[in-house]
Amino acid sequence: MNNIEKIKSIKIKSIVVIKPGQLEIESRDIPIPKYDELRIKVMYAGICGSDVHILHGSNPFAKYPRVIGHEFLGVIDQIGEHSLDDNHDHDSDFDSNFDSTSNEISLKIGDKVVVDPVVSCGRCYACLHDKPNVCEHLSVIGVHQDGGFSEYVCVPKRNAYLVPKRVSDQNACLIEPFAVAANITSNTKVYPDDIAIIYGAGPIGLMVAQVLKWVYKVEHLIVTDRLDERLKMALANGADVALNTQNEDLEAYLHKMKIKPTLIIDAACHPSILNEAINIAAPAARIGIMGFSGDASSIIQQKITSKELSIYSSRLNSKKFPIVIEWMTQNLIKPELLVTHQFDYQDIKVAMDIFENHPKSCCKVILNF
Ligand code: NAI
Ligand code: MN
Repeated sequence: MNNIEKIKSIKIKSIVVIKPGQLEIESRDIPIPKYDELRIKVMYAGICGSDVHILHGSNPFAKYPRVIGHEFLGVIDQIGEHSLDDNHDHDSDFDSNFDSTSNEISLKIGDKVVVDPVVSCGRCYACLHDKPNVCEHLSVIGVHQDGGFSEYVCVPKRNAYLVPKRVSDQNACLIEPFAVAANITSNTKVYPDDIAIIYGAGPIGLMVAQVLKWVYKVEHLIVTDRLDERLKMALANGADVALNTQNEDLEAYLHKMKIKPTLIIDAACHPSILNEAINIAAPAARIGIMGFSGDASSIIQQKITSKELSIYSSRLNSKKFPIVIEWMTQNLIKPELLVTHQFDYQDIKVAMDIFENHPKSCCKVILNF
């Protein structure tokens, strides 16, 4: 057995969705990093709604079998190097020399890193216009390619960011979803005199709430949901008012309080919400949407144009890891408020079940590897 064969014979455990509905912990060969990659020994990973969607076959982008997981951190245990063989290996769709804001040059074995799951080509229109998150050749780690629910994973060097000592492991696990919140708020812009409304107090809505109130310090923040337990969390995560729209009509409430929202973020993503948001918005307001529903929303042009509303969408994140790391270093946001459960990765089936089916008591779930 030569050296390469010896390394390849090392087996590791990975959480694999074999096909929709079938999740297994598989024994696989340890991955070998290519010249532009790092290998990470995963320490912790967060469960996200999209992991559940891949399991149920309702994520249109996933290919099977798939190692899921796109929210993770770990320690660099090997760095890919140039070899003669790599010249033949190079995937020509991807440009390894394009602008990078990561720490790739200074990263070394033993460093603790988080990984931005957005792998982009660097050359298409979206990449050249600062939106690698919607790259023509977009490949999301844990969705289009194998992810971080694994003892080891190889990722492009430029996707790894050093975790500062001041940021706890648990908090670092939430950098990716906070980058989603950073992206939508960067798209819509946020001003201190904004009257903001967030629809939905799930993990994403709550992270957006923290960012709006504690980073941008909006004047007034209303969060809506249909579960009182989630609304209680909203109040702990920056909301001034938490409204259960199962019992109370939002439009009537705003009318009564004489409030017109200037910034509306839809983190519940039912197709009916956009129309309501357009109705309640103040003149010159911005609306941010992030849903993936395939159903139509019925909206009226006149209501948008007469108030000159701006509607922004947001997908994943465009290079928002550095700013989120900065927020965490400065203690502006409090990821620890969102983590309700922690499991060993071997209990993945129980963990996914609790995450999916117990929204009253469960928000973010972290897996230990
Ligand atoms: P989640 O399902 O945990 O949270 C949604 C919350 O909205 C729940 O608490 C639910 O009770 C509440 N809700 C449902 N209908 C509502 C309504 N009509 N009004 C007010 N609240 C309502 O989901 P999570 O993980 O927080 O994600 C939120 C949404 O954002 C999902 O639709 C997800 O697909 C999407 N998403 C989009 C991303 C992007 O990059 N564009 C990234 C991550 C999530
Ligand atoms: Mn996620």
